[in-house]
Amino acid sequence: MKPILPGAPWLVAHRSMFAIDKPYKLTLNGCDYVLWQNNKGEIFSLENTCPHMQAPLSDGWICKTNHSVTCPFHALEFNGEGKLLKDGKPKGEALINKLNLVVQGDLIWTYGSYEPRLPIPDLIFEQTKELRFLGIVGHSSIPAPFLNCIKINYDFNHQNGVHRHIFRIRENPVESFEQNGYAARVVQTFLRDKNSLAEVLKNPSLLTLPRQIKNELEYTFPSTALFKARLPIGEILQFFILYPETEHQTRTFVLCYGNFQSPLFKVPGLKIFFERMLLASTTKVVEQDSRAVASLYPLQKPKIRLPNEEILSYVEKLYHEW
Ligand code: FES
Ligand SMILES: [Fe+2]
Repeated sequence: MKPILPGAPWLVAHRSMFAIDKPYKLTLNGCDYVLWQNNKGEIFSLENTCPHMQAPLSDGWICKTNHSVTCPFHALEFNGEGKLLKDGKPKGEALINKLNLVVQGDLIWTYGSYEPRLPIPDLIFEQTKELRFLGIVGHSSIPAPFLNCIKINYDFNHQNGVHRHIFRIRENPVESFEQNGYAARVVQTFLRDKNSLAEVLKNPSLLTLPRQIKNELEYTFPSTALFKARLPIGEILQFFILYPETEHQTRTFVLCYGNFQSPLFKVPGLKIFFERMLLASTTKVVEQDSRAVASLYPLQKPKIRLPNEEILSYVEKLYHEW
């Protein structure tokens, strides 16, 4: 495949996505890799093709002592350098290429096999220092091209359609849109209609959402869109992450952080309950976005323009002029 945005920094995982000593398969820009983490927190990453008869190493297993991956086909064992192990000792040259990773705390970034064209952004790292990590939701592969997936994150009118039903967003006036190269920032307000009792019973976290929610969006093209909302119970930060797996498949997940202070939360268990509900709502948001972009026909030049679509032109320009 023709690589998508070669040289862009991609956030491909959060450390919590790897079970200790279990292989994890990553597909980026048409290439497959195997990653694993040992009990010391060291992360290893190799191309996924076994150099013997091309079996996928990610279907194999990890040796806790040698910190190596064993191929599922004929059980040859390779260390994190890509060297064959015999009786636990590396033999000869590396036979498998490594995938270079940049580990930033719990965040795992890579440029794949391309020369870096932009630095690793520090948005997530800087914004979350004082916050509680709530978890990762919506981790899935969307059957849609990367451009369609990134555009929905910059589309301020899709809330009125795609997310209408849970959050009852009636309008979202945009106060400002600033762009600075690959970074952009938007301030907007969600004006919501009242949820029905049935909706609230189904999703009690709606009780924490006022009818008017001021929020900020911060973007670092192309991997990250931060949605930051101040609610009466505290602050919530959601980082919507995307990377291209293949031309027609895009990986997504959302890193959720919060800082919730409310006298309500003195009630034992209530805070955890609301956090879980918020995570469930975010999962729903990702499902709705994914379904919407996967259902689109091939893109054509729009014959209608809505307000606040300048930012869509901005992201399309960054993509096409890469
Ligand atoms: S294919 Fe991997 S050991 Fe034979
Ligand atoms: Fe959305």
